[in-house]
Amino acid sequence: MYGNDFPGADEGSATGLLDQVEAAEADLRAAAVRGLAASGSPGADSDLQEYFDAVIGADQKIEPRDWMPDSYRKTLIRQIAQHAHSEIIGMQPEGNWISRAPSLKRKAILLAKVQDEAGHGLYLYAAAETLGVTRDELVDLLFEGRQKYSSIFNYPTLTWADVGAIGWLVDGAAIVNQVPLCRCSYGPYARAMIRVCKEESFHQRQGYEILHTLSHGTPAQKAMAQDAIDRWWYPSLAMFGPPDADSTHSAQSMAWKIKRFSNDELRQRFVDMCVQQAEILGLGLPDPELRWNEQRQAHDFTQPDYTELMRVISGDGPCNRQRMDHRRRAHAEGAWVREAAAAYAAKQAARAEVAA
Ligand SMILES: [Fe+2]
Ligand SMILES: [Fe+2]
Repeated sequence: MYGNDFPGADEGSATGLLDQVEAAEADLRAAAVRGLAASGSPGADSDLQEYFDAVIGADQKIEPRDWMPDSYRKTLIRQIAQHAHSEIIGMQPEGNWISRAPSLKRKAILLAKVQDEAGHGLYLYAAAETLGVTRDELVDLLFEGRQKYSSIFNYPTLTWADVGAIGWLVDGAAIVNQVPLCRCSYGPYARAMIRVCKEESFHQRQGYEILHTLSHGTPAQKAMAQDAIDRWWYPSLAMFGPPDADSTHSAQSMAWKIKRFSNDELRQRFVDMCVQQAEILGLGLPDPELRWNEQRQAHDFTQPDYTELMRVISGDGPCNRQRMDHRRRAHAEGAWVREAAAAYAAKQAARAEVAA
């Protein structure tokens, strides 16, 4: 994950996450040319469900032109939209520090990172649109509070070290969540996730590098880095969602191969990865119960406060209102840009028609 910048930082994850993304990409290409040898093409309507099941069973991709059960479509729209909203709202906590980055270099890196998140939102809205909704509809659902975004972005960024902690922990948790989505059964989502994950790995590295610099700086800088980790650790663990026992959508999503691992499995993977990386940083994780369990070959750790997670999801986090107000305002202020772009596209289309 970290290339050669920080030797040893990869050891927490058995196979490098980026290697997994590369492998998923290769499989995606192979699946595209392989075709579904077992079942051929669907014929009568009654065959549609059977064909869909066969495609899923054979680890092939469902594409926008294919028939799919309504509930599969709805689940994907909900999940991809929530993901897209998270990318866009997620620009705010770090955007807060662009004007106060400690150097020109840091500012340029952070600008690029925040801009990437806008791009992720764009890929994901586009992937959702292949399922028959428009971006406008999805944005409205967000504004009406009928669709959510990740609760992590409702926490404030109090110091520069928070930019490091977000990159390391929040983008890090996002990658652990998203690498398996590169193998999701819906083609446009899987393809979008491959590109997103490659960029997220840069985000995680830049955050880690910020923390590494701070932790090897003055005692005050090191303390600032530790304080940021202390505040972001449990909200990052909560990013994996409620424990498996309380997770409402999981079983069906696993059967459809949208989801490949359970919330608890992914959370465990993330904890195991972070322990080693924290050691290299020379910083601690704020959990006195954190220790290696020889029998499980994994770390025992304290679960995040799921009551708090539910409270933040339902709108009562430290920054929920601020985030939504800002998004509404930005959307309204950007109306002229959308109108101008639409007018330009219409003019180009009219010209092309005359020329044809
Ligand atoms: Fe992102
Ligand atoms: Fe990111």
